Amino acid sequence: MPAQTATAIASPNIALIKYWGNTNDELRLPASPSISFNLADLRTRTCVTWDDRLLADEVIINGEPVSGPARDRVVRQLDHIRRMSGHTGHARIESANNFPTGAGIASSASAFAALSLAATAALGLQLTERELSALARLGSGSAARSIPGGFVAWYTGPTHEDSYAESFAPPDYWDLVDLIAVVSHAHKATGSTAGHTVAATSPLQAARLATARERFDRCKAAILARDFAALAPVVELDSNIMHSVMMTGTPSLLYWEPATLAVMHQVRRWRETDGLEVCYTIDAGPNVHCICTAATAEVIAPALRQIPGVLEVFRAVPAGPARLESE
Ligand code: DP6
Repeated sequence: MPAQTATAIASPNIALIKYWGNTNDELRLPASPSISFNLADLRTRTCVTWDDRLLADEVIINGEPVSGPARDRVVRQLDHIRRMSGHTGHARIESANNFPTGAGIASSASAFAALSLAATAALGLQLTERELSALARLGSGSAARSIPGGFVAWYTGPTHEDSYAESFAPPDYWDLVDLIAVVSHAHKATGSTAGHTVAATSPLQAARLATARERFDRCKAAILARDFAALAPVVELDSNIMHSVMMTGTPSLLYWEPATLAVMHQVRRWRETDGLEVCYTIDAGPNVHCICTAATAEVIAPALRQIPGVLEVFRAVPAGPARLESE
């Protein structure tokens, strides 16, 4: 059979309601539902070529051949696709990000979304968006949310087929902006995959999960109503609860740096004292995502860059779905 190839493009996403902890680590079935939007302008572009002459899968990321755990994770995702399709050959994966890998912007979501789309399309498999989202989830939980466009909700399950993400509003529904204040380029000590397995050791995770659905509903309603005053407190609360779980598990995960807190306080001052439409959310790292309206972004972006410890600021607006390059 001749080589079969396809190229896909996907964006990372920022969760407004967080995913932290699984009911099934193997299948990455999340313990709670989450909400996010994809970040336009930040992209992973992945070309997959299935080639029967290959004796093993080849993985090249940002121009460098990859081995070890990073390659194993890609091979496991290809194994899922081989099982689904009955295809037995190997593939060459060439993937590159248009954003710096060291910038502290998680790339596993865009990477596994682009990989899943390109690898299945190259084999001629026509998956629905829902099937593709569930497949991407097996590679990285948050990758499920990088498949659909706009404002996205990811459901818990209970089965593989039921745990997928879908769009509930298009990207231009609300002119939100994510200003990412980068305060460290260091690689995080404990990655998300290990972090999810620690979540259940925190005595606070049960309380977080008991109230997760309520925050999910409040956040979705605030987005649908374009109500920033309702959105800001629930986004910050959900991030704070997740970090409380991280800090109180065994081992304790403390992702914040002094500059993280400096940005959090400044965001609070901007909102509570100056009446600006901005709130913060923080993933498994020290960088602060400042979620704001487009008008507010103009005002605060230059000021964010002035906060001591802020190294650079990326700006991203809600993006469309993962797509094939020919589309
Ligand atoms: C804190 O999707 O990166 O960013 O499934 O192990 O790849 P894996 O985890 P991942 O976890 C994301 C955690 C988070 C919150 C979120 O994006 O919802």
